[in-house]
Amino acid sequence: MLSTLFAFLVTFFFSVVARAAPVQPVELLVFSPTITSPTASTVWITNTTANVTWSTDNIPAESQNSTGLLLLGYNSTGSENLDIYHPLASQFPLSQGWVQFTVPYNLTYKNDYIVVLFGDSGNASPQFTITPNNATQA
Ligand SMILES: *[C@@H]1O[C@H](CO)[C@@H](O)[C@H](O)[C@H]1NC(C)=O
Ligand SMILES: *[C@@H]1O[C@H](CO)[C@@H](O)[C@H](O)[C@H]1NC(C)=O
Ligand SMILES: *[C@@H]1O[C@H](CO)[C@@H](O)[C@H](O)[C@H]1NC(C)=O
Ligand SMILES: *[C@@H]1O[C@H](CO)[C@@H](O)[C@H](O)[C@H]1NC(C)=O
Ligand SMILES: *[C@@H]1O[C@H](CO)[C@@H](O)[C@H](O)[C@H]1NC(C)=O
Ligand SMILES: *[C@@H]1O[C@H](CO)[C@@H](O)[C@H](O)[C@H]1NC(C)=O
Repeated sequence: MLSTLFAFLVTFFFSVVARAAPVQPVELLVFSPTITSPTASTVWITNTTANVTWSTDNIPAESQNSTGLLLLGYNSTGSENLDIYHPLASQFPLSQGWVQFTVPYNLTYKNDYIVVLFGDSGNASPQFTITPNNATQA
């Protein structure tokens, strides 16, 4: 009884694994771009234009037409605290290597902001600073 069940499970396992086995190695299908800006010394000012750049070296053919999603977070308490409801930018071509946008006007000062660029997978920037634009805020 048990051995029959075991044989069934083994057969089932191998049939599932065989069907799921990818034709190409997974690394070739995932493009995980390295963010080159912002860096740790970057300071963004709210309500001004900012530019995020990333390396497009080694972009695989499968990702040439992929679009990206750029989220803002902050690296407190061991969590990335990503704001999924207010993307900084979305639907931009990953092959471009940069995207520019206006920094939201209502962000508070923090020196542990991060951006995470999602293409086929997510990649985080170093921590950087965003400061309110004191001159234009009442
Ligand atoms: C953001 O900047 C624009 C000009 O670029 C200005 O008209 C607007 O009042 C600013 N908003 C805030 C909240 O500072
Ligand atoms: C953003 O960076 C890209 C690549 O370096 C550059 O071509 C573009 O002009 C930059 N945009 C701004 C507003 O600095
Ligand atoms: C990317 O887009 C071009 C032009 O539309 C097309 O020729 C090419 O096959 C696409 N590549 C992939 C991997 O989808
Ligand atoms: C900033 O503004 C957006 C909408 O414009 C709002 O959803 C968000 O809660 C605001 N964030 C803060 C920290 O006030
Ligand atoms: C986030 O903070 C943890 C420790 O709290 C640190 O190990 C990690 O490198 C930080 N991540 C970034 C992107 O700075
Ligand atoms: C705004 O004021 C804060 C606190 O006084 C300061 O740390 C920050 O550098 C100022 N931001 C700018 C853009 O001058």
